[in-house]
Amino acid sequence: MTIVSTEINKNIAVITIDNPPVNALSHAVRSGVSVALKQVSSDQDVAAIIIICAGRTFCAGADITEFGKPPMDPSLPDLIAEMDQVNKPLIAALHGTALGGGFEVALGCHYRIMDSHAKVGLPEVNLGLIPGAGGTQRLPRLIGVEAALDMIVTGKPISAAKAEKLGIANKISHGDLKSDALEFTQDLLTQNKPVMRISDLDVKASTEVFSDFEKKVSRRIRGFIAPKAAINAVKAATELSFEEGLKFERDQFKTLVNSSHSIAQRHMFFAERMALKVPGIDKSTSVREINSVAVIGGGIMGCGIAINFLNKGLPVTLIEISEEAQKAAFERIANIYSSSVSKGRLSEQQKEQTLSLLITASDYAKLANADLIIEAVFEDIEIKKQVFKKLDDAAKAGAILATNTSFLDINEIANVTSRPADVIGLHFFSPAHIMPLLEIVRTEQTSTEVLATVLKIGKLIGKTSVVSGVCFGFIANRMSSCYGREAGLLLLEGASVEQIDNALYDFGMPMGMFSMLDMAGIDIGVMARQNMAAGSYDEKAFLIHDALVASGQKGQKTGSGFYKHEGRNKSPNPQIEQLVEKFAKENNIKRREITIKEIEERCIFALINEGFKIVEEGIAIRQSDVDVVFNCGFGFPRYKGGPLHYAEQIGFDYTLKRITEFAKEHGDRWWTPSDLLIKLAKENR
Ligand code: 3HC
Repeated sequence: MTIVSTEINKNIAVITIDNPPVNALSHAVRSGVSVALKQVSSDQDVAAIIIICAGRTFCAGADITEFGKPPMDPSLPDLIAEMDQVNKPLIAALHGTALGGGFEVALGCHYRIMDSHAKVGLPEVNLGLIPGAGGTQRLPRLIGVEAALDMIVTGKPISAAKAEKLGIANKISHGDLKSDALEFTQDLLTQNKPVMRISDLDVKASTEVFSDFEKKVSRRIRGFIAPKAAINAVKAATELSFEEGLKFERDQFKTLVNSSHSIAQRHMFFAERMALKVPGIDKSTSVREINSVAVIGGGIMGCGIAINFLNKGLPVTLIEISEEAQKAAFERIANIYSSSVSKGRLSEQQKEQTLSLLITASDYAKLANADLIIEAVFEDIEIKKQVFKKLDDAAKAGAILATNTSFLDINEIANVTSRPADVIGLHFFSPAHIMPLLEIVRTEQTSTEVLATVLKIGKLIGKTSVVSGVCFGFIANRMSSCYGREAGLLLLEGASVEQIDNALYDFGMPMGMFSMLDMAGIDIGVMARQNMAAGSYDEKAFLIHDALVASGQKGQKTGSGFYKHEGRNKSPNPQIEQLVEKFAKENNIKRREITIKEIEERCIFALINEGFKIVEEGIAIRQSDVDVVFNCGFGFPRYKGGPLHYAEQIGFDYTLKRITEFAKEHGDRWWTPSDLLIKLAKENR
């Protein structure tokens, strides 16, 4: 296969990059384009040059797999400098997603034509980087500082229509991109249009523009180093010459590429894609067609799940017991769409169209045509078994029967049906239409075809999927319960609610454990523990939770929980101190000063240890899957790369040492080190 080829079309040279799957700008691509460019630049018969890509997209960026390896010339910045200086009109023809270095290549060209469905963006911040091939210097020159900051610091791609509005795209193609690019280029030549170098443009902005922007995004970028570096690089574009600005950008990029943040964020990028690779499943595995979906249960979870499919244009039948409950579920979903309309994200017409795909019913006979049925009823194994018996009777042959249980034994649920191979867990996280994680739980009998189908469906609805085996709580809630256990014990041992929450927030979690419990509802955990065998969890750790719920204090929804809530404001709940004293005394726990470091390590190392056990037991396929679950499900800071990557970063040895010390101090009931961690610590010595 020729990675870079050139064809001459009358007086226009077309350089085509063909480097599947996403035309990443690998060394072979860079050198191929450089050679081709030199040839056609000096060819007297060539008046203009087009750069276009084969396959599904224009270049999606630098080749991330080359980061951290010795650099190979020509570098991307050198190639783009070469493009910038070409003395003939150079046109980028973009389709798919021109991202990162790919978009920087387009900005190094003199004109851009975009397919109407194409997107452009600089998502480097998502990898803990800043654009390193001129993006921070050229984009503000082309579209102004504010718009450029928005694109570079959020990393969000924009549509062709927006790119045209901002002046990025000179032309939009609604037909065949290559023919339209040739026509556009011919017009440029006919009209004698000059070479338009973005590097020749000037850009200015006041310092307030930068400080205001930083204030606006401060919450979103908390803890990350790349966004701040990106703001500084754009600022450099307004203060330095183009060449000096490029050097400033390059220096920042080089520092970031070796930072622990970027290493962690790149790990997460590949981990999310790796999670979809399940042994025994490949492109040849057959999948079932999913054209209609049903959801059993119209509570918050069921409605959130339904929205995922409605958003993709799939008809959804939602089953609720009574007419009143059906009406409430319909309204709940309609309200979410109305809120999108009021925020300008959806038109009233789109809302109505989407809602027309939703049918509510109480009769299971209405499920006869559904290809995928997801149960989201009360978290009680007996109730779920009853539902599955009814589904077995009502669903057509070949329908996939899924449960949204967050911790129950799906093997047991599957066994009440006559078709356990069609049963699988689809564990969504609340709010189900927003949270990115989908934990796919395969039972002992789930068929490969069913698993492959739901992996495909996960991708369709934009979720990050991870496959788990069956165990109490699967990957996500099993780990989270260890994390919560330590927070509960620390409270009894002497730390305050605020101290624990602040320590975890400062570690980088989106919120502390107790704020999270108040938000989700403390009663949910209490109900979950009622399904757990006595002795399978540390009862002491949850005494306060139980007492709060028993007194009607369930968290935000009741105005009181670990905190007192008034609207968006929260304050300490004075009752907690009394409860802590009472339970500490009854359980002979001596209260003491607890350091921030101990809070952080007890909570985080508990979940790390459990994560390794989950891998060694084969519940998770690989370590990186556990990282994806805790990042996408619970907001573990992406710049730390998930709990198990973090353990590697701080040292398996150190992690094991502390876990062993905790076992000595607090007993080895919960702190027995994972065998896998012991093995890794030995190997890394
Ligand atoms: N480098 C190397 N491999 C890449 C890559 C890249 N830039 N982008 C994607 N890939 C690989 C993926 O790892 C995956 O490999 P696999 O099949 O072995 O798992 C394969 O390409 C397909 O990727 P996806 O599964 O993600 O395919 P989608 O169609 O779902 O998404 C995409 C395509 C939107 C392009 C998505 O892959 C993506 O967002 N890629 C990263 C884009 C990016 O961050 N670019 C900036 C890179 S940094 C840079 O350019 C620095 C510069 O400023 C100097």
